[in-house]
Amino acid sequence: MAFELAQRLKVLPPYLFAELDRRKQEKLAQGVDVIDLGVGDPDLPTPEPIVEALCRAAKKPENHRYPSYVGMKAYREAVAQWYKRRFDINLDPNREVTALIGSKEGIAHFPLAFVQEGDVVLCPDPAYPVYKIGTIFAGGKPYTMPLKEENDFLPDIGSIPQEIVDKAKIIWVNYPNNPTSADATEDFYRDLVRWAKKHNIIVASDNAYSEIYMGDRRPISILQIEGAKEVAIEFHSLSKTYNMTGWRIGMAVGNEELVKALGKVKTNVDSGQFNAVQEAGITALSLPEDELDKLRAVYRERREVMTAALKSLGLEPLESDVTFYVWTKVPKGYTSAEFVGRLIDEAGIVCTPGNGFGEAGEGFFRISLTVPTERLVEAAKRIENLKL
Ligand code: MLT
Repeated sequence: MAFELAQRLKVLPPYLFAELDRRKQEKLAQGVDVIDLGVGDPDLPTPEPIVEALCRAAKKPENHRYPSYVGMKAYREAVAQWYKRRFDINLDPNREVTALIGSKEGIAHFPLAFVQEGDVVLCPDPAYPVYKIGTIFAGGKPYTMPLKEENDFLPDIGSIPQEIVDKAKIIWVNYPNNPTSADATEDFYRDLVRWAKKHNIIVASDNAYSEIYMGDRRPISILQIEGAKEVAIEFHSLSKTYNMTGWRIGMAVGNEELVKALGKVKTNVDSGQFNAVQEAGITALSLPEDELDKLRAVYRERREVMTAALKSLGLEPLESDVTFYVWTKVPKGYTSAEFVGRLIDEAGIVCTPGNGFGEAGEGFFRISLTVPTERLVEAAKRIENLKL
């Protein structure tokens, strides 16, 4: 039998990170010692107190039944307290917070709440592919906002044509940025909030990397901007902060109406996150800051080592002190795909091609600093041996 795929699936390429994993598995099957600098999947273990909290919580029979659709009250309260401590933002845990089964889930589902057939969603490029995927699944049309180096990888909202602005329902932003490792200023967010209010556009901010910083300046939340709560929802995750990618736990916070609408979508399509994982999440959100400082020191060292190694090979990594990504120009004469293809075929190194994040990512590749320093050094040696 042949089954006709829906158009929305036909137009999608294979999911970027699933495709990278397929290529990695191929190489592993050939016996290659693969260095995986592809997906941003922290290699360090989840801190022990979180694992212990899960073990305790998993033994409670009351946790074995259906969880709350929007998350346990105690989890939502822990999220609100964390936002207060970290960003000095007041959130009502009953109306302005919902639990997510990882932020990817919330990001993919959110457009279903607001996007009608033919509506436009403003999506950055290069970017996490799910902003566009969720838009397409909701029947909307992604409009690409290129993030250019000369504009510090911020979208130029002033250049979006009026007829697009008129049809736009949502604008996605993501700072600290994946994949470019740029960060946004308060001024940028202030202008964005003002513009969104003027044009009645929802701001969906993905802040998954707010805790991955190596310098003195701590990234901010859009919700710190005066009036942001009138137009904005922020997606966050415990994945990157606490090395919990496999646990699937995150949150959406902000404007009450937006959070409620997302909750309505979720109530219809999923049954919430396992309570035991939420209890472990509560432990994570109350960990002392010095736990995270240790993690930041690890990424700082890795970034320094990798950036120096790439430069010594004549490559051009972008300097940054946020995220665990190194966004680097491919050598002259290569496309992103060609260069990344050479890395995996001839050096056994998996990296993400810039064009996998959208057309504007062409000319770059992304390195995830999610392997130990000695593997980064080994990767640099292998690149050197390629004699680019
Ligand atoms: C990435 O590598 O861009 C992210 O880890 C993917 C994700 O968070 O799902």
